[in-house]
Amino acid sequence: MTVELATRVLAADANAAAEAARVLAAGGLVAFPTETVYGLGADATDGAAVARLYAAKGRPAFNPLIAHVADIAAAHRLAVFDAAAERLAAAFWPGPLTLVLRRHADCPVAELATAGLDSIAVRMPDHAVAREILRALGKPVVAPSANRSGHVSPTTAAHVLADLRGRIDLIVDGGPALVGLESTIVACLDRPTLLRPGGLARAEIERVIGAPLADPPPGEIDPDAPLAPGMLASHYAPKARLRLDAREVQEGEALLAFGLKMPPGVDRAAVVLNLSPGGDLVEAAANLFSDLRALDDTGAPTIAVMPIPHHDLGEAINDRLARAAAPRDT
Ligand code: TXA
Ligand code: MG
Repeated sequence: MTVELATRVLAADANAAAEAARVLAAGGLVAFPTETVYGLGADATDGAAVARLYAAKGRPAFNPLIAHVADIAAAHRLAVFDAAAERLAAAFWPGPLTLVLRRHADCPVAELATAGLDSIAVRMPDHAVAREILRALGKPVVAPSANRSGHVSPTTAAHVLADLRGRIDLIVDGGPALVGLESTIVACLDRPTLLRPGGLARAEIERVIGAPLADPPPGEIDPDAPLAPGMLASHYAPKARLRLDAREVQEGEALLAFGLKMPPGVDRAAVVLNLSPGGDLVEAAANLFSDLRALDDTGAPTIAVMPIPHHDLGEAINDRLARAAAPRDT
């Protein structure tokens, strides 16, 4: 993208939602709050707007987007729901669950947004501002997380501005995202399959479908044959190196703590943030990306991360930490 845009920021109110819908209808790019993380929206039916969205994020074009809708009727116009999908939507929408479904033959979403796949990811966000924007536009909105590709997802308008100022038209500021992790993605194409752990815990989903979720077959990370192609190993990367399951602190490390009991050497830490002193995984999820950004901004070369339990939202938290810690080129 060569043109520098004047990125406006509006506090979330009825006026901001109407303005967001106007900008989207004109083919513009609008970052808006959802309950999971901030999304970067474009009119899903406008191929040129979707192309601008990929450019603004610096996102590989093979990585398909989630279509956001205001209600179930709008979702039914995009995709075919099998019995499991109907049950999950009834139980968890609006909320932090994305369903990957067969695209309807007459689905109006631009091919570019679904990367030419015959499936489509759909979600109904649980956020008043997001749904007001969707209702005002009257069309689906594709919205990846509103960060530069490969960066940590934004949970505040300030995070969005830091990544995308000059590259998008408008940011609607609705305060911090409450969940703090992206939506859980479940494919209902065949047997319900967990493509990405996220803001809705696996156990809650399994309770509703009455069976364990299948895991994607290994090798799905291949971007040429993607199941959840966005799950590239080194997504969500801070500049600092991450040292996971740290049971002690080395000189000069930043410490990302969890729980009350500090590890040996904590006094050697350059800086300490605690995801949840009370050991609450919901609170830890809400703080994860914002704490990672804050520790990264201190310039510490390494962030030591204390062990986080793997149950409930811990599955998604550990997934994001593993990606942030994965080796990468730059
Ligand atoms: O919470 C969220 O889901 C946030 C908010 C803004 O709604 N959005 C988000 O979008 O996390 P994004 O683009 O960062 O992640 C979407 C993921 C990617 O991993 C992508 O590969 C996957 O969804 N995806 C999209 N369409 C798919 C499809 N048809 N089949 C499989 N995976 C798909
Ligand atoms: Mg993302």
